[in-house]
Amino acid sequence: MTPLPVAVFVSGSGSNLAAILDRQATDPNFGAKVVLVLSDRPGVRALQRAEAAGVPTEVVDWAAYGDRETFTGAVCDATKGHGAEAIILAGFMRILGPEAIAQFPLRILNTHPALSPAFAGVHAIREAIRYGVKVTGVTVHFVDEQVDHGPIIAQQAIRVDPADDETSLLARVQAVEHRLYPDAIDAFAKGRLRVEGRKVIWQ
Ligand code: GRF
Repeated sequence: MTPLPVAVFVSGSGSNLAAILDRQATDPNFGAKVVLVLSDRPGVRALQRAEAAGVPTEVVDWAAYGDRETFTGAVCDATKGHGAEAIILAGFMRILGPEAIAQFPLRILNTHPALSPAFAGVHAIREAIRYGVKVTGVTVHFVDEQVDHGPIIAQQAIRVDPADDETSLLARVQAVEHRLYPDAIDAFAKGRLRVEGRKVIWQ
């Protein structure tokens, strides 16, 4: 089976990108092939990881655009320009405009470090600790027009200890993400996910 060409969008350290590239390198049956790593800012570690793996990179610098609509158009053009047919958000810190969802309907995936619908937004781990929840987790989902909201592909719970701080909880969250996200991407790329409204059925 020919792997599905995908673009991975990053903004920072790129540990999820590394997990995806590692799966691609070690599993000959992995359903996806990363054909582009796109960052909204220059100089981030994720871009170095991509270059080290020999994957083409592009920076679509948010600072040079500043408005969501033209920025979204530029990232969609870059994605299509590299032949990618889906977008994998991996620590990407920008909200894409509606044009991206229109161009890639149910073809944009994200990983969120909480159990949706709890703690949407960028400070999910901090908020979970402050709230005092005993359980948080990871949610892999399709992207729709609302932040951290689209149909849920996979979730895994993680216990929160009273002694946890952001660093310790983030480490356990990412250990889960680094397995759950490549699994979800593989199933998606192989056409094994059927979406009925908000429900995602693994086939
Ligand atoms: C991940 O924990 C993800 O849940 C969140 O941003 C973080 C990105 O980390 N959306 P990395 O850049 O993949 O290391």
